[in-house]
Amino acid sequence: MSVKPTRNRYLQDGSRAAELHNTAREVLPGGNTRQSVWTSPRPTYAVAGNGCRVTDADGDTRVDFVNNYTSLIHGHGNQQIAAAVREQLSEGTAFGLPTPWEIELASLLVDRVETIQQVRFTNSGSEAVMMAVKVARAFTGRSRIAKFEGCYHGAYDPVEVSQAPDPSNWGPPEEPTPLPFYPGHPGVSDVTVLPFNDLENSVRLIERDADTLAAVVVDPLPQRAGLMPAEPEFLQGLRDITKKHGIVLIFDEVMSFRLAPGGVQSLLGGSPDLTAIAKIIGGGFPVGAVGGRADILDFFNPSKKGPKLPHAGTFNGNPVTMIAGLTAMQMMSDEEYQRLARLGDRVRDEGNALFERSGANWQINGLSNMFRLHPNSRELRNYRDAWRDEDETRRAGAMYHALMARGVMLTPDGMGNISTAMDDSVVDELLAALGDAVNEVDS
Ligand SMILES: Cc1ncc(COP(=O)(O)O)c(C=O)c1O
Repeated sequence: MSVKPTRNRYLQDGSRAAELHNTAREVLPGGNTRQSVWTSPRPTYAVAGNGCRVTDADGDTRVDFVNNYTSLIHGHGNQQIAAAVREQLSEGTAFGLPTPWEIELASLLVDRVETIQQVRFTNSGSEAVMMAVKVARAFTGRSRIAKFEGCYHGAYDPVEVSQAPDPSNWGPPEEPTPLPFYPGHPGVSDVTVLPFNDLENSVRLIERDADTLAAVVVDPLPQRAGLMPAEPEFLQGLRDITKKHGIVLIFDEVMSFRLAPGGVQSLLGGSPDLTAIAKIIGGGFPVGAVGGRADILDFFNPSKKGPKLPHAGTFNGNPVTMIAGLTAMQMMSDEEYQRLARLGDRVRDEGNALFERSGANWQINGLSNMFRLHPNSRELRNYRDAWRDEDETRRAGAMYHALMARGVMLTPDGMGNISTAMDDSVVDELLAALGDAVNEVDS
């Protein structure tokens, strides 16, 4: 298959993107209001999406493997979701009352996920993780949490600890140093930082702090840390040790819930007490949810006698999000999950075969319908393995621009995911672009 160049007009002086970015820099810090969409020297600005393609402000169209960071499982402008939302828009977008649709979406999640007995809605993945941690604290009467080095769980202080360490400060691999994420970051010493996929040392550190630990938070497929799957015996080991000490095991499936009808836990195991979900369950609108054990979530129950955790939120369970999410989730049959996973397998298998044939120092990892491109070929089991030095960072940046110029959009750090708007021909486009780009980047 031949590659269609897009010319990357957004990078040219005098482009519409340059004009927009100049104005943006006056009113938004650095011209940006969302770190993850920042690219140097400027981002491309989206003006329209259609299925699996996005058109930018300079008129270039690319295949979108970002899908708003995994949230758009049906791609852009899905007509069924749009019709359902349009109908609700004229009936009212939010009320100071519950609506029937929050019950329907909660019921769907309870039906599909074995460990979810009840659900509490929020407006983002960050809030979902935050409320999961808070309710774990209320349930255990303890306040400390443990999380894994280099893993991203949104913008809540305790889970931001050691989010982006580097070799100059990360400490010994068997006991990562808890590090602040920003100047003034509070409560860093109240967080135990664990090494991912290292059960022996994780168990040792959890046992050390067991009396004060409310929760262990783990993403079984942590994208920012490198998208390496948690090993099933590692997840089972975390389940066993947390159970032994009455610590709440929280899975962050904000992204990885998209991998299977029962979430990533149905693929890798681990049986969490609570699961934070978001992204795809909002059908393209802002959303979050905590699901899990009814006895823990009962701390949110306003009629509960005794200690409880009051939780408000102006847009929790708003009908637009609930209807969009319900429509999106109802459209996801088992067969469709399998089809997307098969396309993801093709990206990994054929992409890696292509690199091997050409001797390129690249690899693609991930699971099911999520994948990530790495500028190296070493074994990746944790954040430290995937950490990029200066040269790898430069090559990854060059690859992003080279793929953009060939009409393919991944995230700047190389993550992609498959939507239902994609088929084999789109995977062919990606593979052709990769084969071509790798020659340019490493020549
Ligand atoms: C694993 C994980 N947790 C939490 C979050 C935060 O979700 P949100 O951006 O909806 O606040 C994200 C966002 O990408 C995520 O990937």
